[in-house]
Amino acid sequence: MSKTIKKICCIGAGYVGGPTMSVVAKQCPHIEITIVDVNAARIAAWNDENLDNLPVYEPGLQEIVAEARNRNLFFSTDIEKAIDEADMIFISVNTPTKNYGKGKGMAADLKYIELCARQIAAVAKNDKIVVEKSTLPVRTAAALKSILDNTGNGVNFHILSNPEFLAEGTAIQDLINPDRVLIGGENDEAIAALVDIYAHWVSRDKILTTNLWSSELSKLTANAFLAQRVSSINSISALCEKTGANVDEVSKAIGMDSRIGSKFLKASVGFGGSCFQKDILNLVYIARSYGLTEVAEYWDQVILMNDYQKQRFADNIIQTLYNTVSGKKIAFLGWAFKKDTNDTRESAAIYVADYLLSEQAEITVYDPKVSAERIYADLDYLNTRSSEENRALVKVVNTAYEACNDAHAIAVLTEWDEFKRYDWAKIKEHMKKPAFVFDGRKLLNRKELEDLDFKYYAIGE
Ligand code: UDX
Ligand code: ADP
Repeated sequence: MSKTIKKICCIGAGYVGGPTMSVVAKQCPHIEITIVDVNAARIAAWNDENLDNLPVYEPGLQEIVAEARNRNLFFSTDIEKAIDEADMIFISVNTPTKNYGKGKGMAADLKYIELCARQIAAVAKNDKIVVEKSTLPVRTAAALKSILDNTGNGVNFHILSNPEFLAEGTAIQDLINPDRVLIGGENDEAIAALVDIYAHWVSRDKILTTNLWSSELSKLTANAFLAQRVSSINSISALCEKTGANVDEVSKAIGMDSRIGSKFLKASVGFGGSCFQKDILNLVYIARSYGLTEVAEYWDQVILMNDYQKQRFADNIIQTLYNTVSGKKIAFLGWAFKKDTNDTRESAAIYVADYLLSEQAEITVYDPKVSAERIYADLDYLNTRSSEENRALVKVVNTAYEACNDAHAIAVLTEWDEFKRYDWAKIKEHMKKPAFVFDGRKLLNRKELEDLDFKYYAIGE
């Protein structure tokens, strides 16, 4: 018989913790869940009466929060109380790439995880199951266990790895109907307790249990394979542009081979998001640290191809605009790393903008869900120029029509559905001529735009 879990604490109220725990709360009304965070503003936003102010935008999330909040789902800054009361603690704090010291730019920074472990050890007065939810390098569980066992009050900790496979923008759907749930661990009773939670809505044959290291490594491997598909098709998109082949036709033709499959073959300006690059860097770092140079270089190439694709997109804009964008206005449609999210981490838009700004372009951005502060923070973080310069060169506006007014060119960076429905004749009327569109997402209708006399360029055509 496994232990029945009555109270859960989740540390970290971000893109993973927030949606994941909301869905667990919805599906398991008998379990009381408290999500805690050190960021008081974020917790206040999760508790905001106006659901439009939730810190994470995900289709379907507002409805679930409205249903479960203050019933069995709570958001709090009282971390100690939530840890103390919980039978099971999920850790879903951020694990950014280290920007200092050994492994800088490659290894995951585990300081937030370590802080959590120390806090759990200090507070816990009874046995706890601790679940790693954040993406972590392989063997983090060992570090976690060592801290918990050596600094705790003599209580037992069982560590489980339960990697998250949700994709942003479809998080709720992915959580409610997952392809599989993966649970790694060493203690059968602890594993069974977590299996029982998921079994409330996921059929048991989709719940896989493995050892800890397999579970941790599976997460990195899944993301590396997905990113590799995007880089592979993006490499072919460059060849298509030279040869007259069309990358959508190639994708379709190869995707119909059931051994290859049709998903993740959409050529784009480059993949972004908080996971792909970070997880591959982790894989590369781990491989190197075991002396597996060839393995490290193999995966590193997926990232190099992605950097190349962003650069290539920006270079094409410059070349097409008569080899200079200095003083020219470029309208950016989209800033998020994909549609249906307000997350911008590692978004291709940031790097394309940075490159064009270094060529003295002026950029006006419109994104339906990303705030101006976020956009400036993303650019400032690169440290390429001062934040005053970023604010002087980049404007953020509230409509696409405003963004495109007087622009020399439009660059589509995110595949938001609304961009397809615009009155493109009206947009063109207010642009400089010839009016250029560079479609980094292959989103718009070439025929419609060419009939309106746009000069239309799409990746891989
Ligand atoms: C990814 C994994 O899919 C998910 O399982 C994991 O838990 C976290 O990392 P996410 O980063 O949210 O999810 O988004 P995803 O849909 O995987 O897209 C990543 C990037 O690849 C986006 O920038 C997207 O635009 C790009 N992409 C994806 C392509 O350019 N082409 C494709 O065919 C698919
Ligand atoms: P993810 O995409 O992995 O969910 P986010 O950055 O969106 O990443 O969310 C991680 C959250 O974890 C942030 O809101 C951050 O404030 C929180 N956090 C980081 N360290 C701690 C900690 N020691 N205790 C509580 N919350 C933390």
